[in-house]
Amino acid sequence: MYLAPDASFQGEMARGWRYRVEAAVLSLAGLIGLVFLLHRDDAPSSRGSREAKEPFASASPLTMEAPRPTAAECRENSTVANLTGFAELPGHIQDFLRYKHCRDFPLLLDVPEKCGDPQSSHLVFLLLAIKSSPGNYERREVIRKTWGQERTVAGVHIRRVFLSGVVANAREARKLNHLLAMEAAEHRDILQWGFQDSFFNLTLKQSLFHAWLDARCPSVRFVLNGDDDVFAHTDNMVHYLLGVPGAGDRHLFVGHLISHVGPIREKWSKYYVPELVTASKSYPPYCGGGGLLMSGFTSRAIYQASLDLELFPIDDVYLGMCLQKAGLAPAAHGGIRMVGVRVPSSTLDSFDPCYYKELLLVHRFVPYEMLLMWRAVHQRGLVCGKKLEVYQSP
Ligand SMILES: *[C@@H]1O[C@H](CO)[C@@H](O)[C@H](O)[C@H]1NC(C)=O
Ligand SMILES: *[C@@H]1O[C@H](CO)[C@@H](O)[C@H](O)[C@H]1NC(C)=O
Ligand SMILES: *[C@@H]1O[C@H](CO)[C@@H](O)[C@H](O)[C@H]1NC(C)=O
Repeated sequence: MYLAPDASFQGEMARGWRYRVEAAVLSLAGLIGLVFLLHRDDAPSSRGSREAKEPFASASPLTMEAPRPTAAECRENSTVANLTGFAELPGHIQDFLRYKHCRDFPLLLDVPEKCGDPQSSHLVFLLLAIKSSPGNYERREVIRKTWGQERTVAGVHIRRVFLSGVVANAREARKLNHLLAMEAAEHRDILQWGFQDSFFNLTLKQSLFHAWLDARCPSVRFVLNGDDDVFAHTDNMVHYLLGVPGAGDRHLFVGHLISHVGPIREKWSKYYVPELVTASKSYPPYCGGGGLLMSGFTSRAIYQASLDLELFPIDDVYLGMCLQKAGLAPAAHGGIRMVGVRVPSSTLDSFDPCYYKELLLVHRFVPYEMLLMWRAVHQRGLVCGKKLEVYQSP
């Protein structure tokens, strides 16, 4: 049966069609866009800095000034593939050898005002420089609330920065770069560079941090360099550092001292360093990288030494190498514990803040433990019996 549509109905029909066509075109466009985005996420990007740089457009407007123009992309050294034994090495070591000459990466998130202007950076007494991978959000949050608070202790100023790179997986990188940009906007405490955040790139992170420090905080007095899974008793640190002669203008490099060790040649180890990376059988003395204290003087000496010292994949050993080159020695501080101490967290009864009260830094804390310990060591009227002597002079 044919129903003659009246004119207005035909008009409706036509509009309806137009809407439907428009909607279809729009959703098709949306779909293409989505496919395009997903495709870009999935695209097997070549390894290297390109992969790292791609997702940052959204992060850069948050930096205080335009990021440096992207340095001419550092190309992999393909000659290393011809070295005998290269093919048998684990992938991350191959990567290290291919890219170790690449040392200049753009700063994607900066905090130029962290130490005021460079001339007044001596007013920053202790800068907490904490290596943190993009995904470690909870650790950063709890550090901000506890020992890493930017505050004034005994009349001197503590400041904080987290040091970060970019995760390898492009899809994750897109999300985590947004996260870091949000944190940066809220807390102004993120330094992020456009290199792959991996264990064997921690030295690169360290060396880029020294370059940043040289530009932004050249006369900072002391630096706590550490990981985001340590508990640092920053009040104790300030009191200890206030007693160190020279107020940062003399050599100081203290932590958990490690000496008479050399490269681990077992392939299964996280710290495996093959002969192709170093033929040397020994490392210079160094301090465990989980947490160490250095003066501004020593930080500058390390920076100068690093400028013509090849990168070495283990970051704390590399600092030892820089010190050696500068003719300086690391020292032990009994208050900095890397192993063997943990919060007895299974029962709160055995949780003894007195023990931690005397320490400067303890390794391996999960976020909630940091919160508990921070509360405990600040308990008012906490009476502790024995006084530990924490500083062992070199
Ligand atoms: C270090 O970062 C660079 C730049 O992102 C990358 O090409 C290289 O593979 C990374 N090296 C390691 C050992 O992860
Ligand atoms: C590496 O070895 C291959 C084959 O043995 C050779 O063709 C190539 O030129 C070498 N590459 C370099 C950069 O030495
Ligand atoms: C590339 O690797 C080879 C072999 O290890 C080395 O001799 C050469 O100096 C490297 N080139 C660069 C630019 O680092």
